[in-house]
Amino acid sequence: MQGKLITQKAGSVACAPEREPAAGAVDLWARVALPAAAPEPPAEPVAAPGLRLALSLLEEGALTSRAKRSGGSYVGRAVPSAGAVYPYEFAVLVVEDGVPTAFRIDADRRTCARIAVGDRVTAALEASLLTVPADGGALVLTLTRPWLSMRKYGDRGYLYTQLDAGHAAGNLALAAAGRGAAGVLRLRFPRESLSELLEAGENCREIHSALLVPAGPAGSTGPVGSTGGSDEAPNRWTVHDDTDRESRGPTWRSWLESTCWDSLAGWPEQAGSPTVRTVPAPLAEVRAERQLPDGSAGLGEVSGWPELIGTRLSSKAFTGEPVPATAVWRAVSALSTPLETDLPVASPLSATLVLRSTTDPDRDAVYRLDTGERRPGRLPSTDEVARACMQQRALAGAAAVLLLHVPRTSLAGPGSAGDAENLRELAFRCGALGQLLYLGANRAQVGVTGIGGFDTPLWRTLAGLPEDDEILYALLLGSPDDSGIKFDRLAMAHAQNER
Ligand SMILES: Cc1cc2nc3c(=O)[nH]c(=O)nc-3n(C[C@H](O)[C@H](O)[C@H](O)COP(=O)(O)O)c2cc1C
Repeated sequence: MQGKLITQKAGSVACAPEREPAAGAVDLWARVALPAAAPEPPAEPVAAPGLRLALSLLEEGALTSRAKRSGGSYVGRAVPSAGAVYPYEFAVLVVEDGVPTAFRIDADRRTCARIAVGDRVTAALEASLLTVPADGGALVLTLTRPWLSMRKYGDRGYLYTQLDAGHAAGNLALAAAGRGAAGVLRLRFPRESLSELLEAGENCREIHSALLVPAGPAGSTGPVGSTGGSDEAPNRWTVHDDTDRESRGPTWRSWLESTCWDSLAGWPEQAGSPTVRTVPAPLAEVRAERQLPDGSAGLGEVSGWPELIGTRLSSKAFTGEPVPATAVWRAVSALSTPLETDLPVASPLSATLVLRSTTDPDRDAVYRLDTGERRPGRLPSTDEVARACMQQRALAGAAAVLLLHVPRTSLAGPGSAGDAENLRELAFRCGALGQLLYLGANRAQVGVTGIGGFDTPLWRTLAGLPEDDEILYALLLGSPDDSGIKFDRLAMAHAQNER
């Protein structure tokens, strides 16, 4: 449609160069022309201890990776994202020179815009039932920007946005724990006043979650002995003052993003009541220990987590070689790692493991992980896995598949129970569990990739899931082949049937 418009108008301008351009051509040109760049405000160093802490945590938990990747120029991050799109950003609230201050973070440019100070910040925090942890702690907010994923994946990009943000928020909490200063992750708080303070809604951003990061062991803004999140990281960042809204340049806006945003308006947002009560608990019930020798389950000592985080990556393909069943179970056992959140301990989310190609064929089977039950029945062939993963043939040699699913009735909507979880909360669980599986797989030395391109009805049949269950997320494990390209990063959404 747009291509047609350009061809027609360009043609008419080219035929009559000496005449006044038609009004349509002027309009078109106004549409494609760029406005002037806003002036760059003066840069300041990052001084506030809370901001330094938050930035080094963001570097370690979300923005950088030390994983050795073969081929290409792709520089990864600490977390995976559908299509490597990363459809979210961050804001940080700290006390700066004794004054509560809010910063918007530009992770690509490594800049922090100070956008509000003083009473406005205090009032927004109070209305949100949140606080900035004392003595140099920080409140790190994750804000989703659905358009970034939806412009590639359409409506399904909204689910990927939530899963991606779940990976990031969960990993930030794990990175904080790895530093010996476990954070608390909040999802159930009133968002309106903070959204207004951060100008989120008007700029098509949604507040996803808030991580309260305590200052931690004295002088530590990074894991001991690691290069990933050392105190040097914040030195690459600068701060500028953007508190005077009038003096800022015009905000970037696109009708495409607004259209995308407006299309989300009717989606049910109902969530459980706000609460300040938090408990450390696993995000899903998973019984994997009994499959493992004593003491080998989980992610190991927290001091080893920064290394697991810094070196994780997604497999591009699987060779089809079987992997030891114990390695898969070790990876899966990481799902039981507790995270401190304000979500209910019990959740409608279930995990099912299809263990189909291991070096211990006796253990190959479908397992319902909440009960540990081993289901009878045959296992999917390589062709069936390819079809159930939307013909992502390179991934069909996966040795195991983890499916995260919920009863359709539990997807909160009008009429659902008061403490039901909304899509954001359920997808948060899935994303954070996915991140734990990535770290568990890294520890167990088995390849892993999350996949958003999967055929729910077919997996339901292949894994014997209840008829009314919906799969929110799937992850594949196996023997990795990292020599080729990652199809999922191409502009075309192959695994979502785009042709
Ligand atoms: C929600 C989600 C969905 C994904 N879907 C697919 C997929 O369908 N196929 C695939 O090959 N990779 C998929 N990925 C993996 C991404 O392609 C990968 O994270 C991204 O390319 C960045 O690479 P890295 O994880 O190695 O840093 C997905 C990741 C996430 C978090």
